Amino acid sequence: MSRSVGLVLLLWVSCVAQGWGPADARGSRVPRRGLQSRPITATSTWFTQCDNTIETRDNVTDDKGALCSRENLNYETGCCPSEFSIVGDCSRCKQDECCDTYAHCVSCCMGPTVNAQSYLEDPNAFKVLLHPETGKWSTKWEYCTGQCRVTPLGTWFENKYKTPHHFCYGLYPMPTNTEYTLPAQVKVEMGLRGESCDSVCSQKGMRCSAAHLEEINLCEVIRETQEFKCKYCKIKDSAGQLGGPAVQKLGNDSVFDGICLQEKKVHDLRCDREVTEAYNRVCPCV
Ligand SMILES: *[C@@H]1O[C@H](CO)[C@@H](O)[C@H](O)[C@H]1NC(C)=O
Ligand SMILES: *[C@@H]1O[C@H](CO)[C@@H](O)[C@H](O)[C@H]1NC(C)=O
Repeated sequence: MSRSVGLVLLLWVSCVAQGWGPADARGSRVPRRGLQSRPITATSTWFTQCDNTIETRDNVTDDKGALCSRENLNYETGCCPSEFSIVGDCSRCKQDECCDTYAHCVSCCMGPTVNAQSYLEDPNAFKVLLHPETGKWSTKWEYCTGQCRVTPLGTWFENKYKTPHHFCYGLYPMPTNTEYTLPAQVKVEMGLRGESCDSVCSQKGMRCSAAHLEEINLCEVIRETQEFKCKYCKIKDSAGQLGGPAVQKLGNDSVFDGICLQEKKVHDLRCDREVTEAYNRVCPCV
């Protein structure tokens, strides 16, 4: 037995053991792509016609964008039968291009109402920091299955979802913050390069309120109050150098203004900290 056939069988056996597998195993099920280039779905190795989001629990979306329930999926072809499926099902997605299930996100993204082709060709499409491979999509299917995965922008400090609608297919996938409102008295101001928040607020006739630094230490707050388009949202341990949230402006990017930084060390947030010329602090003025 060749090594790759052995691997495919092994995969198949482990999937059957988890109760997902096809009813029978046929040697004729040739891998549609090599295992090496199989980054997205768990399935490419055994279905005969369609890739799909087999890892999703209730509904499954195939690579034509058809969404069906798991019971209706054709386990031979891997496709959703047309009589039991909807192509481009956006019923669980919002205006912000975010959906509450992964299967719906992929289906909506693949469907006729979304121009995923133009998204995937856009060099400015969001890329998860430190995961450069997420920026390379050669097909709509790769774009949609890749982009719909949860990004750090969908979580508070990477451990709690901001909203159930955190599967986003947009060029710039950031779920709308529905859980958190800033206190009305706090006005968020962005300083000039290097300025401390004390200086930023006093120039506006206000003062910096250290008590509110933690509340504004979020990329969403930066985006919503400054309309600053973050290319990345980065949670940075600045070893006290930033003193709070900040942005790092990009010189010449038509889509994004720069990188948004949340300070990881929330016990060391300070109004009086001056930063290097590389950063503009974002400040809570009252
Ligand atoms: C599966 O998709 C259908 C069609 O959009 C939807 O009505 C149903 O709620 C989904 N089921 C789950 C469990 O998400
Ligand atoms: C900014 O980008 C435009 C278009 O990509 C280019 O023509 C221009 O030379 C760039 N400017 C700088 C300062 O890099």
